[in-house]
Amino acid sequence: MNQTLINVHSYLAYVALALLVVAAFNAILGLTSKKFFTDKDLRISLFTMIVCHIQLLVGLIVYFVSEKGFQAFAIEGAMKNSELRLTMLEHPLVNIIALVLITMGWSKHKKEESNNGKFKKIAIFYTLGLVLILSRLPWNSWLN
Ligand code: HEM
Ligand code: HEM
Repeated sequence: MNQTLINVHSYLAYVALALLVVAAFNAILGLTSKKFFTDKDLRISLFTMIVCHIQLLVGLIVYFVSEKGFQAFAIEGAMKNSELRLTMLEHPLVNIIALVLITMGWSKHKKEESNNGKFKKIAIFYTLGLVLILSRLPWNSWLN
């Protein structure tokens, strides 16, 4: 069960990251080429938001079932071990911040009236979130 959740978190990461790239790129494109914010743009941003939230929820559970998560604080010298520090502290903390930013982008886009304004909020906040997530991924364990 625990390993299944860790695997789900690992595979859903591909989907979440791919969607974030698509949604951020789509918003930047819409902004720079002054397009109308259509239903398609809404769906791309919303679907990205949903998958990211599911990933957040799974991540939070993984944090308490994985030995590389919260439990790692009990290991002597864990803070000095960069791989453990990443999964027990940096990756969770930074990704929660990233998810707050993405959610803020989604909420703020709803309050904008203009096409430009909507694209701008998604473009800025989703891109920021994506960059933060990419900065703190456990690349070594993920790609091996
Ligand atoms: C730890 C778990 C979660 C937390 C802390 C969380 C938190 C939030 C917050 C703070 C908002 C912003 C509401 C607003 O200001 O408009 C939000 C919106 C949303 N969440 Fe989550 N969420 C979680 C899990 C999920 C899951 C599992 C899903 C989907 C299956 C989901 C789907 C959504 C959607 C679709 C919205 C946008 C609603 C709208 O604006 O129409 N969330 N969430
Ligand atoms: C969109 C946000 C996130 C993405 C894209 C993401 C992605 C990943 C990836 C790719 C891995 C490596 C999996 C592997 O080694 O195969 C991982 C591991 C992990 N993540 Fe996340 N994550 C996100 C959010 C979170 C959050 C919010 C938490 C906790 C609060 C979290 C906790 C963990 C933990 C504890 C591990 C280590 C699991 C283990 O290998 O035992 N993640 N994450």
